[in-house]
Amino acid sequence: MEEKYIMNLRPILHFTSEKNWLNDPNGLSYYDGKYHLFYQYNPYGTCWGNMSWGHAVSEDMLHWSHLPLAMVQDQPYDMAGVFSGSAIEFQQKHFLFYTGVSGKDNKDRQSQCVAISSDGIQYKKMDINPILEGDGIVADKIDFRDPKVWMEGNRLKMVVATKDDFGGKINIYEADGIAHIDEFKLVGTIRKKDFGYMWECPDYFTIRGRGLLIFSAMGVGYEKGLDQDSIVYIGYINETKISGEIVIVYNERVDYGTDFYAPQSLEMPDGRRVILGWMRMEKPLEGCAWTGMMSIPREIHVIEDVIYYRPINELFKYLTTIDIDYMKNNEMGNYSCTYEQHLIYDISIQTDAKKNVRIAFEGDESLEVNYSKTERRVLLHRRIDVNAVDVYKSPILDKDILDLRVIIDRSVVEIFIEGGRYVISAIFQSRSVADKIVINTDDAGCIVHIKGGKVT
Ligand code: FRU
Repeated sequence: MEEKYIMNLRPILHFTSEKNWLNDPNGLSYYDGKYHLFYQYNPYGTCWGNMSWGHAVSEDMLHWSHLPLAMVQDQPYDMAGVFSGSAIEFQQKHFLFYTGVSGKDNKDRQSQCVAISSDGIQYKKMDINPILEGDGIVADKIDFRDPKVWMEGNRLKMVVATKDDFGGKINIYEADGIAHIDEFKLVGTIRKKDFGYMWECPDYFTIRGRGLLIFSAMGVGYEKGLDQDSIVYIGYINETKISGEIVIVYNERVDYGTDFYAPQSLEMPDGRRVILGWMRMEKPLEGCAWTGMMSIPREIHVIEDVIYYRPINELFKYLTTIDIDYMKNNEMGNYSCTYEQHLIYDISIQTDAKKNVRIAFEGDESLEVNYSKTERRVLLHRRIDVNAVDVYKSPILDKDILDLRVIIDRSVVEIFIEGGRYVISAIFQSRSVADKIVINTDDAGCIVHIKGGKVT
């Protein structure tokens, strides 16, 4: 299908595939001087299917170059899918850990597999695959997927999602180094009561001595009245040595929209921990030949035990200040700026939390961000379908100052509230090219900054 743009909906700095379907980020890693992003990909269509690993590299995690597919379905143990997984570097080699889904005769068994590269372009699946299969007792034979592997000294550690009669859970495994890559042993389990029937895409890391776990839980969203069954949580584990029966002591949603899913993290060479999530869509936006995109990479910071997300600092390099029209004599604080399709917008607002705020495209109902002083919440209205507007709400805010940062990139918005304490993001579909972004507040005392970044 050729792309016919009514307007250009392909985001500028949010990763998209050249064409066709994309879901989870996989194998996010720094190897051979570059960031590598692999992703669940359908080479043959704009819907989910034929799961393979797409591949791209970048120097700043914002501008990506596409590389050939890293892995496709070509082995008996992955004929029905090369599912999600992760990457590590060891002795200048790049190791990809993934879930192979076997063909029909084997009843779609999911097992953990490995592929290796020494040039970061061509990956060879190991002869010893699969390296770990579910036994039907501690790990389900069918639902057992998404290995996230890291190294501690010479030891390999791995978390894998699965389920049992009590619901979704994460198994923790260890192996005695790369030489024993096919001898992973179960050392613990992480679970949470009444929290969905299956978990996916686990990730575990520590920040300032805090053990943090991210997982995507299936079967919790509709119960909360959301438009997606599965949503992403971040949880604290009360220890950094993960083994044994572990209970999540505290958890909250990573994103208060429902498009953000299956994030994966990476430790950057300078120590920053960044996550990237799949912004899910069911079908392509109008006139587009690609489906799904990645979020802007978000740095995770833990300050006094509270988790904050910030758009990756590298974004600032591409942004310059945009002039704002400010109507001084108006009793209301009304601001606006011209909307240009070749820019990504980064709008920040600080105001007294006793004022209402509204940010929207003029004359286009696809996107509206509101802060309601009576509700004390941020509300995002987005239209992705002609007939439906979805509304997402932040938790109740209790600060005296409202601090909002809104990033708009053509067809995706990410809102960082209270310095990233809460995030709401969503894909939206404009019907026409708006010519202004307008900001309305109750009076003129707000601090408003708008920055824009050009397509490079
Ligand atoms: C999450 C997920 C993973 C799986 C992959 C398949 O979105 O369902 O659990 O590995 O997608 O594409």
